[in-house]
Amino acid sequence: MRKRQLGKTGIEVSELALGTWGLSGDAYGPVPEAEADRTIDRAVALGITLFDTADVYAQGGMERKLGKRLPAQRTMVVTKLGTNLDGYPEKNFTSQYLYTAFERAQDRLKRDCVDIVLLHNPSLASLDNDEAFTLMKRLKSEARIRAWGVSAGSYEVAEKAIDKGCEVLEMAYNCFLFRDVKKLAVKLRTEGVGLLARSVLGYGLLAGHWTAEREFYPPDHRADRWNQDELRRRVEQIDAMRAALGGPVPTLRSVALRYVLQNERVSAAVLGPRNVTQLDQLVRDAGRMPPYLYPPTMAKLEAALLAHGVTGE
Ligand SMILES: NC(=O)c1ccc[n+]([C@@H]2O[C@H](COP(=O)([O-])OP(=O)(O)OC[C@H]3O[C@@H](n4cnc5c(N)ncnc54)[C@H](OP(=O)(O)O)[C@@H]3O)[C@@H](O)[C@H]2O)c1
Repeated sequence: MRKRQLGKTGIEVSELALGTWGLSGDAYGPVPEAEADRTIDRAVALGITLFDTADVYAQGGMERKLGKRLPAQRTMVVTKLGTNLDGYPEKNFTSQYLYTAFERAQDRLKRDCVDIVLLHNPSLASLDNDEAFTLMKRLKSEARIRAWGVSAGSYEVAEKAIDKGCEVLEMAYNCFLFRDVKKLAVKLRTEGVGLLARSVLGYGLLAGHWTAEREFYPPDHRADRWNQDELRRRVEQIDAMRAALGGPVPTLRSVALRYVLQNERVSAAVLGPRNVTQLDQLVRDAGRMPPYLYPPTMAKLEAALLAHGVTGE
């Protein structure tokens, strides 16, 4: 497993990370407990050192699971805070709430020092208040976290987070959704911000196995994400990815993963397998070293995406 620097934090992470939203059952529907356990264990065995979670996944259940299963010396955890589930779920980025949430997360994760803590999808307006940043800096100075940042849902939030000094950003980034990361590239480099790329398969779409008639049912979040016309258009656009197939790139899943890994601004691609088989496929298809996509292949892919109307947003 290759490693990359997490921006200028001094932390080295495996370039493939294991995400745990899908494994929690919250995102795509239930996952048997034993399968989630096996997938985490398999990730450790494959040399993955970075594990992405949030305090809300399975209402703390995924943090608890990682706290129980991960060998602390060989692994690092990214967790996210800022959603209060006591009562009606609401965002809360006050220092008082975040401090309590941090202590609970630390306890579940069983770590004296939580490697990376991110504010979980804050709104642009909530970043005006500096108290969350002040708290993160204090926790870092007390060696209770190693680095902090923001999981950003838009370019504007990401840009402001960088201006406020965040060290790590987590953002959706894939070959259909690239515009925000491209716009941020210079800033990410000059400010030395580590980028965790999530949703690299576009919630599964970019694996290329779907028909336009595929149906999703709650609690699968994809049930509310696209109407039938949007899904049909996206499934048709997948054809563009075939331009990069061939040689060391055998599958569309491989095109999607390699597209993300080819970007040197990316510190880690956060994978979202729901079982061991999917994890093994992802690790195999990602490739082992650069170039993940040769420049002429990348150019062909980008031209084909444009021709199919993929605008990156
Ligand atoms: N705001 C945030 O901070 C945020 C938001 C989203 C995600 N994340 C993090 O990023 C991680 C990944 O995000 P994501 O769920 O959006 O990721 P994704 O990788 O784009 O999508 C995951 C889905 O892709 C499909 N898939 C996975 N492996 C596959 C394989 N080998 N072959 C075919 N299909 C495969 C599965 O769908 P099927 O069920 O159809 O097989 C799976 O549910 C999450 O677990 C979480 O840790 C963070």
